[in-house]
Amino acid sequence: MTQEPRSQVLAGLEGVVAATSTICFIDGKEGRLLYRGYDIADLAEKATFEEVCYLLWYGELPTGSQLQALREQLNASRALPEEILTLLRLFPKEAAPMDILRTAVSALGVIDPQASENSAEANLNKAIRLTAQIPAIIAAFDRIRRGEEPIPPKEELAHAANFLYMLKGKESDPLSARAFDVALILHADHELNASTFSGRVTASTLSDMHSAVTSAIGTLKGPLHGGANEQVMKMLLEIATPERTEAYVMGMLAQKRRIPGFGHRVYRTEDPRAKFLRRLSRDLGEQAGELKWWEITRKVEEIAFREKGLYPNVDLYSASTYFYMGIPMDLFTPIFAISRISGWTAHILEQYADNRLIRPLSEYVGPTRREFIPLEQR
Ligand code: CMC
Repeated sequence: MTQEPRSQVLAGLEGVVAATSTICFIDGKEGRLLYRGYDIADLAEKATFEEVCYLLWYGELPTGSQLQALREQLNASRALPEEILTLLRLFPKEAAPMDILRTAVSALGVIDPQASENSAEANLNKAIRLTAQIPAIIAAFDRIRRGEEPIPPKEELAHAANFLYMLKGKESDPLSARAFDVALILHADHELNASTFSGRVTASTLSDMHSAVTSAIGTLKGPLHGGANEQVMKMLLEIATPERTEAYVMGMLAQKRRIPGFGHRVYRTEDPRAKFLRRLSRDLGEQAGELKWWEITRKVEEIAFREKGLYPNVDLYSASTYFYMGIPMDLFTPIFAISRISGWTAHILEQYADNRLIRPLSEYVGPTRREFIPLEQR
C-alpha cells in the first residue's frame, strides 16, 4: 500500500486559517484586539458587557432603545427553569462547576422553547437566553452546594452586577461591579480560539446551538485554555508570599513546567487584555487592603519575562481580580464562559449563515496493510 503525503501537517493547526470572519481581529505582533473593528481598549473603558454582546451578535453598537430591548430580553431569561434547578440540586455538591455548567447547558437544549428550530431568529434568541442563563446556573449551583437557596435576579441590575448579586446574595460594591463588567468585556471574544473553533465545528454539521455551546464549554475547561485562570490562583496560593516567588518560579522552570497565565499561540507580545486586568487586580487589592496577590503576580511576571521572555495572557491577572472579589477559585473558568458565550454564539451564528462542513484530514502514519489473523491464532 502506498500513499502520497497529503500535505504538510501543521501540529495544533498552528498558522492555519480555517474561516473568514467579521467578528474579531487580533494583531499578535502589535498586541491589538478588535471586536467588529472596535479596539478592546475603547470597549473596556467606555462600553458595558451588554453593549459588547449586541456588537458581537449584530455587528453594530446598539442605540439606546436597542440596548434597552436587549436588557429586557436578558432579564426575561435570567430566572432558571424549574427543571434546571432540580437538576442542580441532584448533582454532588463537590462536583466541578465547569462540569455542572456543561451538563446544565446541554439540559437547557432539551427544554428550550425553540429547541427544534434552527432559523437565524431562533438561534439569536437562544444566544440571548444562554447568555442570561449561564451566570444564573453558576450562581445557583454555588449557593446550592453551600446549602443555600438560589437567589432570583434583580431586574434593575446590569448583567455583571446581577451575577455577583445572585452569587453572594447582596449587591456588590461599585468597583467590583465595574471590574467584573470589564473582565466580561475583555473575555468576550478571541477569534478562532480552541473553544470557539470546537463550537463552530459542531455548528458546521448543522447540529443545534446548545450542542455547539456544550462542545465549546468542554473545550474551554482544559488547563491550556480557560482552565488556566484557576491554575494561576492555585500557584499564587502555593507561593503565598512575595519573598517566595523567585524560588518557586525558578523551580517550575527548572522542572520544565508550564507557568499558567503565560504564553499564547497568537500573541508575540503582551496580550492587550492583561494590561486592564493588571490594573483592575491592583485597584481591587488596594480596596481590600491586601495587595499581596497582585504583588506575587507582578513578581511572577518579571521572572517569567527575565528567564524565558514570556508575556502574560488574559488568565494571569484575571485570577487575582476574581479572588479579590471573593469568588471561589473553581468558578474562575465558568466565569470565562459567562463572558465567552457572547463570542461563541456570535461565531455559531456566523457559521450557520454561510456554512460548509468543517472536516479536515489527517496524515496516516500507522502500520501499512497487514494480514488479518483469526482470533484463535493470535
Ligand atoms: N510556561 C513556560 N514556558 C512556556 C509557556 C509557559 N506558560 N508557554 C509557552 N512556553 C514556551 C514553551 O516551553 C516553548 O518553549 P521551547 O520552544 O523552548 O520548548 C515555547 O514557549 C512555545 O510554546 P508552545 O507550547 O509551542 O506554544 P503553543 O502555542 O502550543 O501553546 C499555550 C500556547 C497557551 C498552550 C502555552 O503558552 C501554555 O501552555 N501556556 C500556559 C497555559 C495558559 O496560560 N493558557 C491560557 C492561554 S490564553 C487564554 C485562554 O485561551 O484561555
